[in-house]
Amino acid sequence: MPDYDLIIRNARIIDGTAAPARDGDIAISGERIEAVGAVSGTARREIDARGLAVTPGFIDVHTHDDAAVIRDPRVDFKIMQGVTTDVAGNCGAGVAPANDDFRLYYAKGVGPILGESALPWSTTAEYFDAVDAAHPACNVAAYVPHGVVRYNVVGLKKDPPTEAELARMKELVDEAMRAGAIGMSTGLVYLPGSNARTEELIELAKVVSPYGGIYTSHIRNEGDGLLAAVAEAIRIGEESGCPVQLSHHKAGGPTAYGLTKQSLPFIAAARARGVDVTIDAYPYVASSSSLAAMFRIGQGRAFDVVPAIIASVKYEHEKYEGKYISDIAQDLDLPIPDAIRKILHDEENSPSVIMFIMDEDDVRRVMADEHCMVGSDGLPSEGKPHPRLYGTMARAIQSYVREQPVMALEEAVRKMTSLPARKHLLADRGVLAAGAFADIVIFDPETIADVATYQEPRQYPAGIEYVIVNGAVAAEGGKQTDARAGRMLRRA
Ligand code: ZN
Ligand code: CU
Repeated sequence: MPDYDLIIRNARIIDGTAAPARDGDIAISGERIEAVGAVSGTARREIDARGLAVTPGFIDVHTHDDAAVIRDPRVDFKIMQGVTTDVAGNCGAGVAPANDDFRLYYAKGVGPILGESALPWSTTAEYFDAVDAAHPACNVAAYVPHGVVRYNVVGLKKDPPTEAELARMKELVDEAMRAGAIGMSTGLVYLPGSNARTEELIELAKVVSPYGGIYTSHIRNEGDGLLAAVAEAIRIGEESGCPVQLSHHKAGGPTAYGLTKQSLPFIAAARARGVDVTIDAYPYVASSSSLAAMFRIGQGRAFDVVPAIIASVKYEHEKYEGKYISDIAQDLDLPIPDAIRKILHDEENSPSVIMFIMDEDDVRRVMADEHCMVGSDGLPSEGKPHPRLYGTMARAIQSYVREQPVMALEEAVRKMTSLPARKHLLADRGVLAAGAFADIVIFDPETIADVATYQEPRQYPAGIEYVIVNGAVAAEGGKQTDARAGRMLRRA
C-alpha cells in the first residue's frame, strides 16, 4: 500500500503566505495535503516538479460565472489559468434568488452576458445545491447579489423600498447568508442596483454582518467621482460592521487618470481607523461590461474619447464581434452615439463591450498595493469576450512580477491565494500546509504568460503545467482532464 495518493517532488514551494520560496515535496491523500517539506514514502502517483513553482490554487475573487459553472461545469477558461476557486455573484448581478419576474428580466437583460439559464431554482440554497449537482471542475463561493434581491422584490422601481419591501429584501439576504453566501455584492452603476440609496444598502449589510459576511461593491462611480464612491462603500462597511471589498479598483476615463494616487491612501486611512477594506483588480487597461449600461452612464460621450470593441452580441450581428465601434460607425456612416443606438436596438441591448478606459500607471499602482487581490471580472459570454476571462492569473505574474516588476513572485502569489482565502472566509484554502485542501498550481515562473488577445481571446495561458483541485489533477501538459472535483464552498 502506498503511503499517499500523490507526491509532488522537487518542488519550488511558494506556500501562499509570501514566505520565501523553498525546495521540497508535497504529499497529498484524498482531498488534502498531508505533508510539506522533505517527504519520504511512496505514492500512487508522483509528479516531478523540478524547475517549476508549486503554489496554492489561484482564487479568482471577482467572477460572473454564476450560470457558467452549471451550464459549462468544465469551466476550462478557469482551470487552464490555474483558478481552483471562483467567487461568483459579483457586481450585484447573479442568478439567485429567482422569482418569475426575475427569470424574465434575466433572460432579456443579463443572460446574454452571464450565459443563458432558465434559473430552475427559487432560493439561494437551491442554487447552491444546483452548483454541487453540476460537479464543476473548480470550487465556487458566492455573494448574494443585491441587484437580484432588489429586482425580485421591487423590480425596476426607483423609489426607496417601503418598510414591507425592505423587510422582504432582508429576508432574501438572510436566506442567502444562512445558505452559506460569503456576503453581499452591489453594482451601483447597473439597474436595478443604481436605484438603491446608501441607507438601503446599510440596512441590508446589517443582515450580512452578524454572519461575518463581507460587503463588496462595484461602486457608484469609477471615474471623476471615484473618491466619493469609495467613501460610500466604506461608510456602508463602518455603519453595518461588514468588512469591505472594493471591486475592480480603477480610475476610469482620461479625466480620472491618476486618481488612484488619492484613492489608495484614502482606503489605507480607513484601514488605519479599523475598517477592514481590501480591493481587487484585473491586470488590463480595458474594462468590459454591458454596452447598454456603459452607454447609459456615459450618455455616449465616453465612446467618443476611448476606443471600444464589441465583444459579444446575441443575435445576427456577429460581424460586429471583435470590431472597434469607431469602425462600425464608419461602415454605417453614422456618428458614434447613433451607431451605438442602432447596435443596441438591433441586438435588443444584449451586446457586451470592451473599453480601453484605464491608464497603465493606475493599473500598476493598484496591482502593487499590498491589499489588492486579483479578480478577473471575466464575462463568460459568447463571441469574443475580454481576454481577462482566460488570461488574468497568468498575466498578473507575467506583467507585474516579470515584465514591469512591482512585487516578488511570493507576494503576487499571496495576493492570489491566502489573502483572498482569508478575506472571503474560505477555510483551509489559499496555503500549502498540512491539513489544507490540495488546491495546487504548478507552473514555470519564467514562461507563464497570457496569450489571449482582444481579437482571439479563447486561448489558454502558457507555462502552466498542472492544476489540482481538491486533490484531483484537473489539468496537465496543457490539457484539461475529466476531473470535476470542485464544489460549492458555503461560508464556514
Ligand atoms: Zn463590476
Ligand atoms: Cu464584475
